[in-house]
Amino acid sequence: KKNITDIIVDNKRVFVRADFNVPLNDAGTITDDTRIQATLPTIRYLLEHHAKVILASHLGRPKGQAVPAYSLRPVAGRLSELLGVPVQMAPDCIGANVQAMADALQPGQILLLENLRFHKEEEKNDPEFSRQLAGLAEIGINDAFGVSHRAHASVAGITAYLPMAAGFLLEKEIRFIGGAVSHPAHPFAAIIGGAKVSDKIEVISNLLPKIDVMIIGGGMANTFIAAMGYSIGKSLVETDKIELAKSLIEQAKTQGKQLMLPTDVVVASAFSNDADKEEVPIDAVPADWMILDIGSQSRQAFAKVLDSMKLIVWNGPMGVFEMEAFARGTEAVAKAVADSQAVSIVGGGDSVAAVNKTGLSDKISHISTGGGASLEYLEGKKLPGIEALSDK
Ligand code: 3PG
Repeated sequence: KKNITDIIVDNKRVFVRADFNVPLNDAGTITDDTRIQATLPTIRYLLEHHAKVILASHLGRPKGQAVPAYSLRPVAGRLSELLGVPVQMAPDCIGANVQAMADALQPGQILLLENLRFHKEEEKNDPEFSRQLAGLAEIGINDAFGVSHRAHASVAGITAYLPMAAGFLLEKEIRFIGGAVSHPAHPFAAIIGGAKVSDKIEVISNLLPKIDVMIIGGGMANTFIAAMGYSIGKSLVETDKIELAKSLIEQAKTQGKQLMLPTDVVVASAFSNDADKEEVPIDAVPADWMILDIGSQSRQAFAKVLDSMKLIVWNGPMGVFEMEAFARGTEAVAKAVADSQAVSIVGGGDSVAAVNKTGLSDKISHISTGGGASLEYLEGKKLPGIEALSDK
């Protein structure tokens, strides 16, 4: 695999696949620009080298339709503010108009293509679509770690038509996460949270052999609590995954791994920030209530274990973090991860937001721009976007 500094970009038309899939509110304003900020080193480097920069990304899941709410236009505005130079917005990502705009670029100018997923060919990894994207430029950079687990046209297929190298962000993600997987320091803890077990089953079972401690929190912990035979009232639970949770608990035992679940929880009378709430041990969840966060004993127990780790990876919130009343568990874990001396890697929107909210992001070794991508990479899976670079 080549990196950006291994290739000559000067005065060339450079296609940059970025992950500008950022959250927007109803008014179309970007609510978190972390992913845009993270790509700036690559863009600045290209500008310093007088490249003609063609930026490409997806936003959301518009399913092959040109849905205006998923336009990348807000990203052009934000980029322009951050870079202090104009960013031209293309009406599409392929076609004669776009080709003409790309051809007209002068050194140091920037063109942002419209959402790649407005064409269904992007997700289908369609060779003709890849070829057209490639035709816009003379050389390519992949800086889109967040989407490198997708074998899509702009990420994977394009490398058949355009020589591509890794940007600074992709390189950094590979260094930290790849390094953690290939030579993990021990003791090694994984903290896995979020709403659903079904999203993370594979991650849990693939990570088990590598780690020493697995901490499970968030909505998905309910299914494990149910698997241990406790009643969980009206809590979110995946009934069809209870057997699987049991077998994961068994797997951990057989492998001699410490699997930690909450021992106490915050329960609420309704799924609302203003609901009545109480802290109870997991064997005392009232029938009509629901679990929305981990309790204070669990927070302390998790923090104590994390304190002695050498490597910690964290993905997924410990409770309903978006509601202030149920954010304490996730915040406590954010603090524990930041306070530990371990190499720490945090990925996934909510966990990263929690770290940012506590103002402790400087104390995290690596905040990944990847959600699904960081988990798959941690599991040791080969990511199509990275593999496509390695082949060339
Ligand atoms: C992400 O937000 O994780 C990436 O941008 C990938 O998006 P996707 O899950 O819609 O492919």
